[in-house]
Order: sequence, then C-alpha cells, then structure tokens
Amino acid sequence: MTDKTATLGADGNNQAFPVLEGTVGPEVVDIRKFYGQTGMFTYDPGFTSTASCQSAITYIDGEKGILLHRGYPIDQLAEHSSFMEVCYLLVHGELPKRAELDRFTYTISRHTMLHEQLSTFYRGFRRDAHPMAIMCGVVGALSAFYHDSTDITDPEQRMIASHRLIAKMPTIAAMAYKYSIGQPFMYPDNSLSYTGNFLRMTFGVPAQPYEVNPVIERAMRRIFILHADHEQNASTSTVRLAGSSGANPFACIAAGIACLWGPAHGGANEAALNMLREIGTPVRIPEYIARAKDKDDPFRLMGFGHRVYKNYDPRAKVMQETAAEVLDDLGISDPVLDTARELERIALSDDYFVEKKLYPNVDFYSGVILNAIGFPTEMFTALFALARTVGWVAQWNEMISDPEQKIGRPRQLYVGATQRDYVPVDQRG
Ligand code: ACO
Repeated sequence: MTDKTATLGADGNNQAFPVLEGTVGPEVVDIRKFYGQTGMFTYDPGFTSTASCQSAITYIDGEKGILLHRGYPIDQLAEHSSFMEVCYLLVHGELPKRAELDRFTYTISRHTMLHEQLSTFYRGFRRDAHPMAIMCGVVGALSAFYHDSTDITDPEQRMIASHRLIAKMPTIAAMAYKYSIGQPFMYPDNSLSYTGNFLRMTFGVPAQPYEVNPVIERAMRRIFILHADHEQNASTSTVRLAGSSGANPFACIAAGIACLWGPAHGGANEAALNMLREIGTPVRIPEYIARAKDKDDPFRLMGFGHRVYKNYDPRAKVMQETAAEVLDDLGISDPVLDTARELERIALSDDYFVEKKLYPNVDFYSGVILNAIGFPTEMFTALFALARTVGWVAQWNEMISDPEQKIGRPRQLYVGATQRDYVPVDQRG
C-alpha cells in the first residue's frame, strides 16, 4: 500500500480512497468502501478499468507487448521450457528443481487415465457434436467421478483435483476427437511426453505403433506453453467467479471451457483460419480490409486486436516462427500461410489498424499450424482449453487461498421500469 489516495465522489461528497501498488504495472484505486462512503456504484462493463483480484501468477504489459509468467518472459519459456515445467511454475510459483520436476511429471502421468465409465458418457453425444460441447460436459461430469477431490477447503484435495485436471485434459480432448471420427479411444502412454502422449492419443490407432514427430511435438509444446495462462481474461475470470461461490474445481473449469468457446475469445483461432480460407488468395485481402474498416459491416479481422495488447502480441511472434517451421518440416506449402503473412503486412501498414493499435494476436497463426498438423478446425478451441487448464487451475487455487476472497457479486446500473402495480391480464390495454 502507498500513502497515496485518490479522491472520488460527486455533489460535494468527495472521499479519499487508498491507492494500492503492485510489484509492477498500474496502481489501483481501492474502491471497496466506495458504495458505503458515497452511496454510488462504479460502472465498468467489460472490466476495462477494473482489477478484479490480486494475483502473482501472470503479468502483461499490453502497451509494450510483454507477457511474464511468475516473472519469466513467455518467449524464454516457449524456447527453453517443457510444458510440465511451465505447469509447475504456474501452480507452485517457482521453476522446479530437477527432483521436483521429476516428481511432478510422475504425479501427472499417474492421473492421465479416465474413469472407464466416462467412455460410455461420450457415447451419449451425437457423432457430429462440437468437441467443446463434449469437453464442457465431460469435464463438468468429472465431479461426479472424483468425489475424493471436491472438498475445496482441503489444500491436498485441491492439489489432487488440479493434478487430475492437468493430466486428464489431453485424454478428454483426444477422446472427443476420436469419437467424432469413429475411431477407437486410445489409452494414454505414460512413457511419452505430455504433448507426445496427446499426439498419440489423437492420431494413433491401436492397430499400429505411433511414432511421435519431434518437430510437431515441439510445436505442440510451444502452443501449449503459449496458451497456458493469460491473467484475468474472460474464461479465467469465469473460473474465478464460478469458484468464488465454493463450487467444485471440475464444475469451475467446465464453466471456463464454456466461456472460452466464444469467437471473441478461444474460438478466434477457428474463426481466423476460416477467414483466411475464405479470403483464399492475397489478391482478395484489400476487399476484406475494407470490410473490417466499414462501420456498417459487422465483419472483423479474426486473430487481430486484443483487449490488453496494444502492441504485437508476444505469443503471435513465436506462433509465426513455429508455423513456418512446421510447414517446412511437413513439406506443406499452404496458401493460407502466404495469405496470413500478406494480410498481416497490409494491415500493419494501414492507418485504421495502426491508429487503433490492432496487431495480430496469438490466434492469428495458431490455426495455420494446427491445420498443418492435421487437426480439424473444431478441435482448435479444445486444444486451447487443454492448454489453458493449468492457468485456470493455478488462478483458482490462488483465489481459494486468498484471505480477501469473497463471492463475486457485481452490482448494476438499473435502467428498467420503476415500481408499478400488477394489472390482471384482461385489464391490460
Ligand atoms: N477488426 C477490425 N476492427 C477491429 C478489430 C478487428 N479484429 N478489433 C477491434 N476493432 C476495432 C473496433 O471496431 C473498435 O473500433 P471503434 O473504436 O471505431 O468502435 C476498436 O477497434 C476497439 O475495439 P473493441 O471491440 O472496443 O475492443 P475490445 O478490447 O473490446 O475487443 C477483441 C478486443 C474482442 C479481441 C477484438 O479486437 C476482436 O473482436 N478481435 C477479433 C477476435 C479475436 O481475434 N479474438 C481473440 C482475442 S485473443 C484470445 O482470446 C486468445
């Protein structure tokens, strides 16, 4: 806390409110007593100026394009870390020592299988169900299968639930894919890495051995790391809000998955690739740029713009490099990548995008990579959910252990009818 205060109020009733200081980033006016002292609420739909909690997990400087997990820059983690290491870092706060990493990796590998009865749960879905619909259902249903890790007041149970969620999510996502194409489910193989195991469960078949391609494994590792956490985004805030009532972790993560599904959030990678395919060739880019700029046209360049980044999204840079690497290794020449690069070049030199500080975000190139690896577009958001689970889990744990945590209960600016008397149906004019 600083000695600084901010004076706020109206009609001569101005009051001083404490200004809080984090380790880095903007100071925050503590308005918790604002209503009590002034009788007014603050109004901030979309939380554009509101810090909803304190957190020590992820820091973003959107103006400079900086993303740090527990202080470590995302590009360093994407280059040097394993996904398990990043999971440990997010959940426990420090990079693990060798023995800690080995123990954590072993623990996660002991939770990769799903309760066998859950496979019958899958069979209740239509074959053409969106994998995110299946993920919402199956992850929510975990609470019905793992009763021994739903007591949120017990730190040990919270940690077991966290391990289970991180470990089972690849199995759940891969099974959603297998179900959609009518292939048998593949059991996990714990001798493989987290990403290698996921690739095998997705693309392997029981009839023959599956060999993990190291370039694809590295690309998936990077994609998982780049999506692991992102501060108080919509789905993370959803997980926190759901968890603030004391709901069990499986239900909370299912809520996060539901929020992530939307095209303005996790669904944007699917939407970005569909858009690039629709554009088809660099020749048609100006037409789409013009549509994006047209106030009367609801079209937006998908994979462009971000609520927080007003600079190049640092994750997009790594994605762009990874896209080139994967396509090169697989010997694929995809016109979609050429269209993406050209669209980026044109948009970044266009006044509209420059003035509004609209840059490519993490989703702009991820679809190109996932498509090259062989994932159908409907799986893209499911992969995002898989990777983000560790962030949700870390943020949920942090919230539950925070002594200042309260049930999330926003207020409103009421604009409806004022009190009036009920009129019987036949007397209504
Ligand atoms: N294409 C064209 N114009 C855009 C775009 C875009 N992709 N994004 C924002 N704008 C314009 C808006 O029309 C608005 O213009 P105005 O001020 O003249 O009205 C201005 O830029 C600000 O946009 P807002 O919608 O107010 O910004 P907000 O912070 O609410 O939205 C969002 C951020 C939702 C990400 C937005 O940029 C968008 O819809 N982008 C496309 C979807 C996308 O890529 N989402 C992925 C986000 S990253 C993630 O979830 C991992």
